[in-house]
Amino acid sequence: MPAGDKTEIIDRFDHLAKVYGLVTPFMWRTWNRMATIARLQPGDRVLDVAGGTGSLAVRLTRHDAAVTLVDLSPAMLERAARRLRGTGADLRQADATDLPFPDNSFDVSFISLALHEVPLSDAEAFLKEMARVTRRAIVAADFAVPRTRIGTWALKQTIGRVEEPSFFVFLEVGLDGLVRRAGLETAESMRPLFAGTEIALVHLAERGRTAAAAAAEQ
Ligand SMILES: C[S@@+](CC[C@H](N)C(=O)[O-])C[C@H]1O[C@@H](n2cnc3c(N)ncnc32)[C@H](O)[C@@H]1O
Repeated sequence: MPAGDKTEIIDRFDHLAKVYGLVTPFMWRTWNRMATIARLQPGDRVLDVAGGTGSLAVRLTRHDAAVTLVDLSPAMLERAARRLRGTGADLRQADATDLPFPDNSFDVSFISLALHEVPLSDAEAFLKEMARVTRRAIVAADFAVPRTRIGTWALKQTIGRVEEPSFFVFLEVGLDGLVRRAGLETAESMRPLFAGTEIALVHLAERGRTAAAAAAEQ
Protein backbone atom coordinates (compact mmCIF):
# COMPACT_ATOMS: atom_id res chain seq x y z
CA MET A 1 0.00 0.00 0.00
CA PRO A 2 1.21 3.53 -0.75
CA ALA A 3 3.20 5.19 2.07
CA GLY A 4 1.81 8.59 3.17
CA ASP A 5 -0.85 10.44 1.22
CA LYS A 6 -0.34 9.76 -2.47
CA THR A 7 -3.95 10.47 -3.48
CA GLU A 8 -3.03 13.50 -5.57
CA ILE A 9 -0.41 11.69 -7.66
CA ILE A 10 -2.68 8.66 -8.11
CA ASP A 11 -5.50 10.95 -9.35
CA ARG A 12 -3.13 12.76 -11.72
CA PHE A 13 -1.88 9.58 -13.35
CA ASP A 14 -5.29 7.91 -13.37
CA HIS A 15 -6.42 10.86 -15.53
CA LEU A 16 -3.25 10.94 -17.64
CA ALA A 17 -3.46 7.21 -18.39
CA LYS A 18 -6.08 7.86 -21.10
CA VAL A 19 -3.74 10.07 -23.14
CA TYR A 20 -0.37 8.66 -22.09
CA GLY A 21 -0.05 6.79 -25.39
CA LEU A 22 0.72 10.15 -27.06
CA VAL A 23 4.01 10.39 -25.14
CA THR A 24 5.26 6.91 -25.85
CA PRO A 25 6.61 7.24 -29.45
CA PHE A 26 9.05 9.93 -28.22
CA MET A 27 10.44 7.41 -25.74
CA TRP A 28 10.97 4.38 -28.00
CA ARG A 29 14.66 5.11 -28.64
CA THR A 30 15.32 5.65 -24.91
CA TRP A 31 13.51 2.48 -23.81
CA ASN A 32 15.37 0.40 -26.40
CA ARG A 33 18.71 1.81 -25.20
CA MET A 34 17.77 1.16 -21.56
CA ALA A 35 17.05 -2.47 -22.36
CA THR A 36 20.39 -2.92 -24.16
CA ILE A 37 22.62 -0.95 -21.77
CA ALA A 38 21.50 -3.28 -18.96
CA ARG A 39 23.16 -6.25 -20.72
CA LEU A 40 20.46 -8.59 -19.49
CA GLN A 41 21.07 -12.30 -19.29
CA PRO A 42 18.35 -14.89 -19.90
CA GLY A 43 16.43 -15.52 -16.70
CA ASP A 44 17.40 -12.23 -15.05
CA ARG A 45 14.83 -10.97 -12.57
CA VAL A 46 14.11 -7.34 -13.40
CA LEU A 47 11.98 -4.64 -11.83
CA ASP A 48 10.41 -1.67 -13.63
CA VAL A 49 9.66 0.96 -10.98
CA ALA A 50 6.79 3.40 -11.67
CA GLY A 51 6.45 1.45 -14.90
CA GLY A 52 3.26 3.19 -16.08
CA THR A 53 1.58 1.58 -19.07
CA GLY A 54 4.32 -1.05 -19.48
CA SER A 55 6.10 0.17 -22.63
CA LEU A 56 9.58 -0.40 -21.19
CA ALA A 57 8.55 -3.61 -19.39
CA VAL A 58 7.29 -5.18 -22.63
CA ARG A 59 10.74 -4.57 -24.19
CA LEU A 60 12.39 -6.19 -21.17
CA THR A 61 10.27 -9.34 -21.57
CA ARG A 62 11.80 -9.70 -25.07
CA HIS A 63 15.20 -10.19 -23.40
CA ASP A 64 13.94 -13.36 -21.68
CA ALA A 65 13.86 -11.61 -18.32
CA ALA A 66 11.35 -12.30 -15.54
CA VAL A 67 9.71 -8.88 -15.29
CA THR A 68 7.97 -7.25 -12.32
CA LEU A 69 6.35 -3.83 -12.76
CA VAL A 70 5.17 -1.62 -9.91
CA ASP A 71 3.16 1.59 -10.13
CA LEU A 72 0.82 3.59 -7.91
CA SER A 73 -1.90 4.33 -10.43
CA PRO A 74 -4.56 1.67 -11.01
CA ALA A 75 -5.43 3.14 -14.44
CA MET A 76 -1.79 2.98 -15.59
CA LEU A 77 -1.54 -0.58 -14.24
CA GLU A 78 -4.71 -1.59 -16.08
CA ARG A 79 -3.16 -0.50 -19.38
CA ALA A 80 0.12 -2.21 -18.50
CA ALA A 81 -1.77 -5.44 -17.78
CA ARG A 82 -3.28 -5.31 -21.27
CA ARG A 83 0.07 -4.64 -22.91
CA LEU A 84 1.86 -7.35 -20.92
CA ARG A 85 -0.82 -10.03 -21.25
CA GLY A 86 0.73 -13.41 -22.05
CA THR A 87 4.29 -12.36 -21.13
CA GLY A 88 4.24 -13.72 -17.57
CA ALA A 89 5.10 -10.28 -16.13
CA ASP A 90 4.06 -9.66 -12.52
CA LEU A 91 2.24 -6.35 -11.93
CA ARG A 92 1.69 -4.78 -8.54
CA GLN A 93 0.31 -1.57 -7.12
CA ALA A 94 3.11 -0.34 -4.85
CA ASP A 95 4.74 2.85 -3.66
CA ALA A 96 8.30 3.19 -4.95
CA THR A 97 9.36 4.88 -1.70
CA ASP A 98 8.59 1.62 0.11
CA LEU A 99 9.01 -1.32 -2.27
CA PRO A 100 7.35 -4.55 -1.07
CA PHE A 101 10.35 -6.79 -1.83
CA PRO A 102 13.20 -8.19 0.28
CA ASP A 103 16.79 -6.99 -0.26
CA ASN A 104 18.48 -8.20 -3.48
CA SER A 105 15.28 -9.62 -5.01
CA PHE A 106 16.18 -8.46 -8.54
CA ASP A 107 19.23 -8.51 -10.81
CA VAL A 108 18.51 -5.17 -12.50
CA SER A 109 15.96 -2.45 -11.82
CA PHE A 110 14.76 0.27 -14.17
CA ILE A 111 13.03 3.61 -13.83
CA SER A 112 11.94 5.83 -16.69
CA LEU A 113 10.47 9.35 -16.67
CA ALA A 114 9.27 9.13 -13.07
CA LEU A 115 11.99 10.83 -11.03
CA HIS A 116 11.05 14.32 -12.26
CA GLU A 117 7.39 13.72 -11.36
CA VAL A 118 7.84 13.55 -7.58
CA PRO A 119 9.35 15.70 -4.79
CA LEU A 120 13.14 15.43 -4.46
CA SER A 121 12.87 13.45 -1.21
CA ASP A 122 10.66 10.85 -2.92
CA ALA A 123 12.95 10.63 -5.98
CA GLU A 124 15.88 10.01 -3.64
CA ALA A 125 13.86 7.38 -1.76
CA PHE A 126 12.92 5.64 -5.08
CA LEU A 127 16.62 5.23 -5.95
CA LYS A 128 17.57 4.08 -2.44
CA GLU A 129 14.79 1.49 -2.48
CA MET A 130 15.86 0.32 -5.95
CA ALA A 131 19.43 -0.08 -4.67
CA ARG A 132 18.17 -2.09 -1.69
CA VAL A 133 16.11 -4.58 -3.71
CA THR A 134 18.60 -4.95 -6.59
CA ARG A 135 21.80 -6.97 -6.83
CA ARG A 136 23.58 -5.91 -10.03
CA ALA A 137 22.56 -2.60 -11.62
CA ILE A 138 20.06 0.25 -11.86
CA VAL A 139 19.19 1.80 -15.21
CA ALA A 140 17.47 5.19 -14.85
CA ALA A 141 16.25 7.56 -17.56
CA ASP A 142 14.72 11.00 -17.44
CA PHE A 143 14.85 14.39 -19.14
CA ALA A 144 18.38 15.44 -20.08
CA VAL A 145 19.15 18.79 -18.48
CA PRO A 146 20.12 21.05 -21.41
CA ARG A 147 23.77 22.14 -21.51
CA THR A 148 22.95 25.70 -22.56
CA ARG A 149 20.83 28.44 -20.98
CA ILE A 150 18.76 28.81 -24.13
CA GLY A 151 18.12 25.06 -24.12
CA THR A 152 16.90 25.20 -20.52
CA TRP A 153 14.70 28.19 -21.33
CA ALA A 154 13.18 26.36 -24.33
CA LEU A 155 12.50 23.23 -22.26
CA LYS A 156 10.78 25.27 -19.55
CA GLN A 157 8.67 27.09 -22.17
CA THR A 158 7.50 23.86 -23.80
CA ILE A 159 7.46 20.73 -21.63
CA GLY A 160 7.56 22.92 -18.50
CA ARG A 161 4.13 24.32 -19.32
CA VAL A 162 2.46 20.98 -18.64
CA GLU A 163 4.71 19.79 -15.80
CA GLU A 164 4.44 20.03 -12.01
CA PRO A 165 6.83 22.08 -9.81
CA SER A 166 8.93 18.93 -9.22
CA PHE A 167 10.04 19.13 -12.90
CA PHE A 168 11.78 22.49 -12.27
CA VAL A 169 13.49 21.15 -9.15
CA PHE A 170 14.64 18.13 -11.17
CA LEU A 171 16.17 20.47 -13.80
CA GLU A 172 18.30 22.05 -11.03
CA VAL A 173 19.62 18.70 -9.80
CA GLY A 174 19.69 16.48 -12.91
CA LEU A 175 19.71 12.71 -13.13
CA ASP A 176 23.33 12.28 -12.08
CA GLY A 177 22.83 14.68 -9.15
CA LEU A 178 19.89 12.61 -7.97
CA VAL A 179 21.91 9.41 -8.23
CA ARG A 180 24.58 11.01 -6.02
CA ARG A 181 22.00 12.29 -3.54
CA ALA A 182 20.87 8.67 -3.14
CA GLY A 183 24.47 7.71 -2.21
CA LEU A 184 25.11 5.98 -5.56
CA GLU A 185 27.45 6.57 -8.46
CA THR A 186 26.74 6.69 -12.21
CA ALA A 187 29.11 4.33 -14.02
CA GLU A 188 27.96 5.24 -17.56
CA SER A 189 25.62 7.89 -18.86
CA MET A 190 24.36 8.59 -22.34
CA ARG A 191 22.00 10.87 -24.23
CA PRO A 192 20.26 8.99 -27.06
CA LEU A 193 20.23 11.10 -30.23
CA PHE A 194 17.20 13.41 -30.65
CA ALA A 195 15.43 11.87 -27.61
CA GLY A 196 15.89 14.72 -25.11
CA THR A 197 16.61 12.17 -22.42
CA GLU A 198 19.56 10.96 -20.39
CA ILE A 199 20.19 7.39 -19.25
CA ALA A 200 22.32 6.54 -16.20
CA LEU A 201 23.72 3.10 -15.46
CA VAL A 202 24.63 2.41 -11.82
CA HIS A 203 26.67 -0.71 -11.00
CA LEU A 204 25.55 -1.92 -7.60
CA ALA A 205 28.13 -4.68 -7.35
CA GLU A 206 30.71 -1.90 -6.90
CA ARG A 207 28.88 -0.34 -3.96
CA GLY A 208 31.14 -1.90 -1.32
CA ARG A 209 34.31 -1.15 -3.25
CA THR A 210 33.40 2.52 -3.81
CA ALA A 211 32.57 3.00 -0.13
CA ALA A 212 35.81 1.29 0.90
CA ALA A 213 37.85 3.47 -1.50
CA ALA A 214 36.19 6.64 -0.12
CA ALA A 215 36.92 5.54 3.46
CA ALA A 216 40.56 4.75 2.57
CA GLU A 217 41.02 8.24 1.07
CA GLN A 218 40.01 9.95 4.36
C1 LIG B 1 5.45 9.87 -16.43
S1 LIG B 1 4.93 8.31 -15.89
C2 LIG B 1 6.23 7.25 -16.48
C3 LIG B 1 5.73 5.86 -16.73
C4 LIG B 1 6.74 4.93 -17.40
N1 LIG B 1 7.84 4.63 -16.54
C5 LIG B 1 7.21 5.48 -18.71
O1 LIG B 1 8.41 5.66 -18.92
O2 LIG B 1 6.35 5.73 -19.57
C6 LIG B 1 5.28 8.36 -14.15
C7 LIG B 1 4.71 7.14 -13.42
O3 LIG B 1 5.15 7.19 -12.05
C8 LIG B 1 4.12 6.63 -11.26
N2 LIG B 1 4.39 7.01 -9.86
C9 LIG B 1 4.43 8.26 -9.34
N3 LIG B 1 4.72 8.20 -8.03
C10 LIG B 1 4.88 6.90 -7.72
C11 LIG B 1 5.21 6.21 -6.52
N4 LIG B 1 5.41 6.87 -5.36
N5 LIG B 1 5.30 4.87 -6.57
C12 LIG B 1 5.07 4.19 -7.73
N6 LIG B 1 4.75 4.78 -8.89
C13 LIG B 1 4.66 6.13 -8.88
C14 LIG B 1 2.86 7.20 -11.87
O4 LIG B 1 1.68 6.51 -11.48
C15 LIG B 1 3.18 7.09 -13.37
O5 LIG B 1 2.71 5.89 -13.91
